[in-house]
Amino acid sequence: MKVLLSEPQRIDIPFVMGHSFACKTNDSGRKNREFCKKKRMKKFITTPIYYVNDVPHIGHAYCTLAADTLARYWRQKLGRENVFFLTGTDENSQKTVDAAAAAGEEVMPYLDAMAARWKETWEEIGIDFDDFIRTTEARHHKTVHEVLTTIHGKGDIYKGKYEGLYCTGCEAFLKASEVDEHGHCPHHKKAPNVVEEDNYFFRLSKYQDQLLELFEKNPKLLEPEKRRNEVLSFIKSGLEDISISRENAEFGIPLPWDKSHKIYVWFDALINYRSGCPSEEFWGNTLHLLGKDITRFHCVIWPAMLMSAGISTPAEEYAHGFFTVDGEKMGKSLGNVISPLDLAMKYGNDGVRLGLLSSFEFGNDGDFSQEQFHDLYNKKLAGGIGNLFNRVTVLIHKFLEGKSPTESTAFDAKTLQHFGERLEAKKIREAIETMFHVMDDANELLNSTEPWKLAKTDLPAAEKVFAELIPKLATIAKMSETLLPEAAPKMWKMIGEGKKVGEAAILFQRAE
Ligand code: MSP
Repeated sequence: MKVLLSEPQRIDIPFVMGHSFACKTNDSGRKNREFCKKKRMKKFITTPIYYVNDVPHIGHAYCTLAADTLARYWRQKLGRENVFFLTGTDENSQKTVDAAAAAGEEVMPYLDAMAARWKETWEEIGIDFDDFIRTTEARHHKTVHEVLTTIHGKGDIYKGKYEGLYCTGCEAFLKASEVDEHGHCPHHKKAPNVVEEDNYFFRLSKYQDQLLELFEKNPKLLEPEKRRNEVLSFIKSGLEDISISRENAEFGIPLPWDKSHKIYVWFDALINYRSGCPSEEFWGNTLHLLGKDITRFHCVIWPAMLMSAGISTPAEEYAHGFFTVDGEKMGKSLGNVISPLDLAMKYGNDGVRLGLLSSFEFGNDGDFSQEQFHDLYNKKLAGGIGNLFNRVTVLIHKFLEGKSPTESTAFDAKTLQHFGERLEAKKIREAIETMFHVMDDANELLNSTEPWKLAKTDLPAAEKVFAELIPKLATIAKMSETLLPEAAPKMWKMIGEGKKVGEAAILFQRAE
């Protein structure tokens, strides 16, 4: 399944949305270029780091593919060196220790094997991350120590007694009001552990007003609106200080000033974004993508930790929805967990990416239907885009001896601008729809003009149709660098260099 990709075609992108990077021209050319280089925005894109007690399923792949897709878009716009995409694994968790024990293995070898499995899965399905961080790495421990020492020095950590409920599944403390009628964690359907121990606490309550102010000033601190409102009402309901260490934990990062305590896994995990960030320039434009279940950690605890540590808060956070599979919650017990690798075997990496990201709009909840996924692949990719490219190149070979009727890179700038706007708003499904519209438009032109008939009676008229079709194909190829990255280089080959079109090829095999 691993396909080596060539670098995407570096063509100046006609869509420049949001920030403008237009450089003023004056005679001091070199100075000006340097100024522009410095002014170039950098973008840091992250996924949550995944627990390694299990293998990746399509729920995890969903967020990772979305982040990869956005990273590819931003690389196209800003240049590869200005975008940094980080993913990784969350390893200092009790879940992991339990999973290693259940597998009859020592913790570290188990973690090494599982982290490798996650990393390889992402590589196999075509995720082009810039770095993969593990929270057991020394570089992460170092950053955690620095951040915690600063927060401690600020007087925001104190020792107290924790008495309450802890759910290992969530790796979170639960309030008595949060358990269901059976006294179980509503997500894991298990009774949480009752714990009573000396812990260190973080003064989260101190940051309540600052957090509200931060939200007010920064509408992108959490999107979509629905999630933002949930978190805002949680903050307004009154924040309590949180326990940030466990006295009896077997595994984890010790507190810098009291080695008998291990840092609470979420408090260490969030810091991965700092450990894995290449520089302050990137940090200034951070986009965290996450699931809707972990917004309180990312949009309440995390910004408060950063404010306490004197580090700037993320520019943007976006929470996506959850999906069910054929109407059911995905879970091991239901036996409906789908591996992205299994899907990729049948539909290819582009098929998985497009199928998952178009199931429903990023940000909403939705259902993943296997049947719909299969039909979409055959209709829109194999029978749609694939067939379109094949037909057009075959016809140009047949009637124009392969001579390209127009400049291949003349894309439709307006459509690309719209496409870029949709991606910058994280409306990934709408961006996909934009690509399908171009495809429908091209097919309509082809079917209404029938250039295969026209060519026999009026060759120049047929040539004109092909000249109109090529920019449409180029527009699709340009969008595919983001949405269908394995097909994109093959598309450019078929479109050719402006003089001759390439050989016709099958972009997507029909799935049985
Ligand atoms: N380790 C924490 C994250 C720490 S980030 C500093 C964690 N890990 S997780 O492996 O349980 O979940 C990772 C992500 O997968 C979450 O964003 C979660 O929302 C997402 N998903 C897990 N199941 C999912 C679906 N069924 N659908 C969509 N996303 C899902 O939480």
